Amino acid sequence: MNSKGEIKRLFEPESVAVIGASGTPGKIGYSVVRNLKNGGYEGKIYPINPKADEILGFKSYSGIGKVDGPVDLTVITVPASLTLASVEEAVAKGTKYITIITSGFSEVGDYETEEKIVACANAGGARVLGPNIFGVFSAAGKCNSTFSANNIFPGNVAILTQSGALGIAMIGKTAAANIGLSVLASIGNKSDLDEADCLEYVIHDNNTKSILMYVEGIKDGIKFMETLKRATAVKPVVILKAGRSERGAMAAASHTGSLAGSDEIFDAVIKQCGAARAETLEEAFNWCNFAANTPPPKKDNYVIVTNGGGIGVMATDACEQYNIPMYDDQNKLQEAFSPMTPAFGSVKNPVDITGGATSKDYNLALEASAVTKEIDGVMALYCETATFDTENLTPMVRDTYKRHMELGKPIVYALVGGEAVSDSIRTLQKDKIPAFSDVMHAVSSLGVAYNYQHYLTRKNDSVDWAKIDTKAINSIIDTALAEGRSFLLASEGYSVMKTAGISIPENSIVTTPEKATEAAEKMGYPVVMKVVSRDILHKSDAGGVILGIKGKDEVAKAYDTIMANSKKYNPKAVIDGIEVTQMVSLGTEFIIGGRRDPAFGPVVMFGLGGVYVEVIKDVVFRALPLNRQEAGDMLTGIKSAKFLEGVRGQAPRDRNSIIDAIIKVATILNECPKITDIEINPIVVYEEGKGLKAVDARIMIEN
Ligand code: ACO
Repeated sequence: MNSKGEIKRLFEPESVAVIGASGTPGKIGYSVVRNLKNGGYEGKIYPINPKADEILGFKSYSGIGKVDGPVDLTVITVPASLTLASVEEAVAKGTKYITIITSGFSEVGDYETEEKIVACANAGGARVLGPNIFGVFSAAGKCNSTFSANNIFPGNVAILTQSGALGIAMIGKTAAANIGLSVLASIGNKSDLDEADCLEYVIHDNNTKSILMYVEGIKDGIKFMETLKRATAVKPVVILKAGRSERGAMAAASHTGSLAGSDEIFDAVIKQCGAARAETLEEAFNWCNFAANTPPPKKDNYVIVTNGGGIGVMATDACEQYNIPMYDDQNKLQEAFSPMTPAFGSVKNPVDITGGATSKDYNLALEASAVTKEIDGVMALYCETATFDTENLTPMVRDTYKRHMELGKPIVYALVGGEAVSDSIRTLQKDKIPAFSDVMHAVSSLGVAYNYQHYLTRKNDSVDWAKIDTKAINSIIDTALAEGRSFLLASEGYSVMKTAGISIPENSIVTTPEKATEAAEKMGYPVVMKVVSRDILHKSDAGGVILGIKGKDEVAKAYDTIMANSKKYNPKAVIDGIEVTQMVSLGTEFIIGGRRDPAFGPVVMFGLGGVYVEVIKDVVFRALPLNRQEAGDMLTGIKSAKFLEGVRGQAPRDRNSIIDAIIKVATILNECPKITDIEINPIVVYEEGKGLKAVDARIMIEN
């Protein structure tokens, strides 16, 4: 149902009926008809109102059934109590899409009516957007079926928003920022169609050059990821998601009646899909506008040209934050920039042409960056100074921008100063020249576009799974479930690791002190001994774990101590034996895990492990499926990635064995649906070629 051809009629209908159309200015039913009319809609407009004969010059009908021709889109603006009946009439008429502006459904707890509306629409072959939306606009369809108070300026940025009010605000804000819109859709309660369906249209809309999504929560994460990946394959997507804080997430959930997924997972997923996440509306607008109107920064050598050392340093820091590679060929930089740089300036990147620079110096410097073929893009920074002839700022930027565009080189400007500079920025922005009042806005716009290109060049849709006898794992799980457990015993966790080929320390479960000694002698000292009992979950608390046992006598003593402690801790506990485990030699402790996210399904996790995991929480997530390249990106994605290079003279850690283990955990999660959580912590990783050892594997299960 959601193919391009079909969803197109929602955005580009040939005819629109408005049930609840009104001739009274100020009413929503009036605004929708007015906006259709004023927006230049060329299809048929059918106002539906039981009392009116004519609304805004259009013949009005007492019921949608009275309309002669077909109706592609029906917009509903009657009160909630009349909405279901209106939907029934619209469906009987054969409308394909119904947008419901009316509020008062699942967002205030009335799920029942909302479900009835969708059931009725779907049974009649119609799809519903909303309820609780402000409408839909498409430049291609010249169709503004929103109740916005302002005109929407057509352009090349698409906005899909879960919040209607924010969408309305965005109309004014984008107009003020000279951003034209190709599409604007309010998603509302997502009773039937959701953001992924609307994204489907935008993917194929030729007017759209970049996409901004405001999201509070995703219900169908798998569909969202799949669509988002296809979207980013063809155009940049910036996502503004509210609900990062716990309180914010709660507000979001109640706001739209949706489930706000865990923010860390959402963050990981959208990055995995190639979208950028903005923190503020301003960032989102800047990034989308820049990406829609500037040649893509595809290459790897960027220069900063500045007349102020301070803003040059700020821009350099921002380049590091956004991974923008700085051009560093000293000879070429010298050759290009020494003619206009005084001796007390700097021709090193950032190139500082100093506070004495005039517009002529800027013209020369930016001409040099334009014609130096080794330079792939420019961040031009300007601080208002006494020596710069301010009236020449706008022409200088215009001319140098034009030169860079002729040569296909991206350039951004950060112009810092007073009223005259602000005027200049406004004038330049009207012409779509990327001039910003803040260094961070300029650099981040270039950075986000650069990272998007980088994503496209590395994009690899292959999927890697491991070959594992998951039938054997599933039968361990079934046995545990049959015993009424929601977790696997440590010994069963080890069996799962063994079956998956994830190396574990040598171990053996014994039932006498003699057998314990025999096992310890065989595996070599030191060893660890632990009680094995399904009745004792927290073994350390029970005094059921002894580490660093170094000889025969210690083994026998440890055996007796553990038995005595465990019986004292829980006299009724059934003790299966004592596990003797080789103590793993020192390495770097990481954590590998996975869980099922309510929205995005199975996700894997990697991070710094051991006791630090709780405190530092330096972990990254990826949704399934994934490939070895993406698993490798997880390794470099943690803040403590330097540990992988080996610290204090250590050799680099065995990355391949970690990637193998991540893929294995992904495979287990995928093929063992009754596992809810896996946590291997610590997984001790040795130097390259020497592998790793999973010291502890906790696995939670559910029927
Ligand atoms: N068929 C067609 N028209 C009908 C019918 C019917 N069966 N019954 C009534 N009407 C007409 C009414 O006569 C009226 O027209 P009139 O002005 O000529 O009398 C028109 O439909 C509207 O009905 P009203 O009862 O006047 O309803 P009102 O316009 O006050 O409110 C509305 C309706 C706007 C849908 C309201 O119920 C509502 O939900 N408001 C919130 C909308 C909203 O904010 N949505 C979310 C947007 S996103 C955001 O967050 C901003």
